[in-house]
Amino acid sequence: MQRALLDHGAVQCGFCTPGMVVAVEALLAADPAPARAQVREALSGNLCRCTGYGRILAAVDAVAGHRAGS
Ligand code: FES
Repeated sequence: MQRALLDHGAVQCGFCTPGMVVAVEALLAADPAPARAQVREALSGNLCRCTGYGRILAAVDAVAGHRAGS
Protein backbone atom coordinates (compact mmCIF):
# COMPACT_ATOMS: atom_id res chain seq x y z
CA MET A 1 0.00 0.00 0.00
CA GLN A 2 2.87 2.35 0.78
CA ARG A 3 4.40 1.70 -2.66
CA ALA A 4 1.05 2.30 -4.37
CA LEU A 5 0.59 5.63 -2.59
CA LEU A 6 4.04 6.72 -3.73
CA ASP A 7 3.56 5.41 -7.27
CA HIS A 8 0.23 7.26 -7.61
CA GLY A 9 1.54 10.57 -6.31
CA ALA A 10 -0.75 10.26 -3.29
CA VAL A 11 1.88 11.42 -0.79
CA GLN A 12 2.77 15.06 -0.44
CA CYS A 13 3.64 16.09 3.13
CA GLY A 14 3.10 12.50 4.34
CA PHE A 15 1.37 13.47 7.57
CA CYS A 16 -1.75 11.44 6.78
CA THR A 17 0.01 8.54 5.08
CA PRO A 18 0.47 6.13 8.04
CA GLY A 19 -3.20 6.41 8.94
CA MET A 20 -4.22 5.88 5.33
CA VAL A 21 -2.09 2.75 5.09
CA VAL A 22 -3.51 1.28 8.31
CA ALA A 23 -7.10 2.13 7.34
CA VAL A 24 -6.75 0.63 3.87
CA GLU A 25 -5.05 -2.52 5.10
CA ALA A 26 -7.83 -3.06 7.66
CA LEU A 27 -10.46 -2.50 4.98
CA LEU A 28 -8.86 -4.85 2.46
CA ALA A 29 -8.40 -7.54 5.14
CA ALA A 30 -12.14 -7.40 5.78
CA ASP A 31 -13.20 -6.95 2.16
CA PRO A 32 -10.67 -7.54 -0.63
CA ALA A 33 -12.86 -5.81 -3.22
CA PRO A 34 -14.57 -2.89 -1.49
CA ALA A 35 -16.92 -0.54 -3.30
CA ARG A 36 -15.81 3.07 -3.68
CA ALA A 37 -18.28 4.15 -0.97
CA GLN A 38 -16.74 1.65 1.44
CA VAL A 39 -13.27 2.96 0.69
CA ARG A 40 -14.39 6.53 1.30
CA GLU A 41 -16.00 5.50 4.58
CA ALA A 42 -12.88 3.63 5.67
CA LEU A 43 -10.72 6.67 4.96
CA SER A 44 -13.13 9.18 6.45
CA GLY A 45 -11.32 9.30 9.79
CA ASN A 46 -8.06 10.32 8.13
CA LEU A 47 -7.88 13.88 6.95
CA CYS A 48 -5.54 14.74 4.10
CA ARG A 49 -4.96 18.43 3.55
CA CYS A 50 -2.73 17.96 0.53
CA THR A 51 -3.95 15.51 -2.07
CA GLY A 52 -7.70 15.91 -2.49
CA TYR A 53 -8.10 12.11 -2.10
CA GLY A 54 -8.32 11.30 -5.81
CA ARG A 55 -4.84 9.86 -5.98
CA ILE A 56 -5.31 8.04 -2.70
CA LEU A 57 -8.45 6.38 -4.06
CA ALA A 58 -6.59 5.44 -7.23
CA ALA A 59 -3.86 3.83 -5.12
CA VAL A 60 -6.44 1.83 -3.19
CA ASP A 61 -8.02 0.64 -6.45
CA ALA A 62 -4.59 -0.40 -7.73
CA VAL A 63 -3.77 -2.39 -4.59
CA ALA A 64 -7.16 -4.10 -4.51
CA GLY A 65 -6.83 -4.96 -8.20
CA HIS A 66 -3.26 -6.19 -7.79
CA ARG A 67 -4.18 -8.41 -4.87
CA ALA A 68 -7.15 -9.78 -6.81
CA GLY A 69 -4.77 -10.72 -9.61
CA SER A 70 -6.08 -8.30 -12.20
S1 FES B 1 -0.23 14.14 2.14
FE1 FES B 1 -0.26 15.88 3.42
S2 FES B 1 -1.98 15.54 4.70
FE2 FES B 1 -2.08 13.94 3.26
